[in-house]
Amino acid sequence: MLPRRLHWPAGLDASRFLADYWQRRPLLLPGAFAGIGSPMEPDELAGLACEPEVEARIVQEHGAQRPWQVSHGPFDESVFAALPETHWTLLVQDVDKHVPAVAALLACFDFLPEWRLDDIMVSWAEDGGSVGPHLDQYDVFLVQVQGWRRWRIDTRPSPPADCLPDLDLRILKHFQPDADWLLGPGDVLYLPPGVPHWGIAEGPCMTWSVGLRAPAWRELAADWLQYAVDALVGDGRWRDPPDTAPPSEPAALPMTLPQAMRAHIDQLLAGADDTHFRRWLGCYLTESKPNIALLPPDPPWPRAEVVALLRAEGRLLRDGASRLLFLRAVTADAEDLLFANGDCHPLPAGHADFLAALCRRPALTAEAVLPWLDAAPCADLLTHLFNAGHFLTPGVGD
Ligand code: SIN
Ligand code: CO
Repeated sequence: MLPRRLHWPAGLDASRFLADYWQRRPLLLPGAFAGIGSPMEPDELAGLACEPEVEARIVQEHGAQRPWQVSHGPFDESVFAALPETHWTLLVQDVDKHVPAVAALLACFDFLPEWRLDDIMVSWAEDGGSVGPHLDQYDVFLVQVQGWRRWRIDTRPSPPADCLPDLDLRILKHFQPDADWLLGPGDVLYLPPGVPHWGIAEGPCMTWSVGLRAPAWRELAADWLQYAVDALVGDGRWRDPPDTAPPSEPAALPMTLPQAMRAHIDQLLAGADDTHFRRWLGCYLTESKPNIALLPPDPPWPRAEVVALLRAEGRLLRDGASRLLFLRAVTADAEDLLFANGDCHPLPAGHADFLAALCRRPALTAEAVLPWLDAAPCADLLTHLFNAGHFLTPGVGD
């Protein structure tokens, strides 16, 4: 159903791709996922778009007068019955988080560090459907899963980015494509950030967009500073120095105030060291969006039963909403850190191979994990993750 790996065209492999194309040039990968079949039907996608926690859009094109109108989910089933036969697209974000069988495709992108993977957006379009010419701020692999879509792209450096006014969608005002490709099932188009593109369905079709994550410096800096404040700045308040005299001008800020205040803040935050930063970064990068939640098994499983399940099944499949990353200790007396949906779990240095085995997609295997489970902290960590909902319980999602 889903391929196990991405097939590079002749003469290319992951290293050459990263050196010559990644973040620089678009690339068509014909048949990269030859034989791919969607584990979900279009009506299941429509069903997902009716769920309150799912982020979905319908984009309709109404000709020259009202081009590209967007409506946001969750949708009522009746919305789909009322759609015309052509010129609309349903787009559902984060399908990998909601459908573990879709998340399995992410394992084919292991030539990139996992923290850079954001989500799989699935779109279903009827003939003529498109979201208009636009550009994205992040890299994307556009995987044609069912049917045909014609992609036109503009490969010129620094193309104009101004958008049409008065639309809810960002549609480019000027679009001058210089490449035109018709993608069929199994074909993939890689686009770096900022490349104008326009994909129009030729007949009904399904496209999966594997989107990369490129955190904005503004967000990173704001979140890191907030973490440092929470970790290091207590409840203390400003107090006037003991030699305070009556001011000559009450509205004048004391000359020494900026320096005194700044020195105090700098001193409070000076404790923010690499250990804090490493912990913050892993938590930040594994945090999930507010609408994405794990489903803990109820009641929780005792440790022995989790280990017995792993022995019996041979592997534990990851839930789509689970984000696991790890960071190796920098020195032998430091800690290996596992990050799980915004939480940090430290283990003494020397456990990085165990953590790597825990984080393996789409499933952890008994072969790699069992040898570690005689040690209580390892078995406890696996049990904790299982009971937080990171793995599927038997019968779910297989
Ligand atoms: C789509 O799947 O219809 C649009 C994807 C994109 O252009 O980014
Ligand atoms: Co796009």
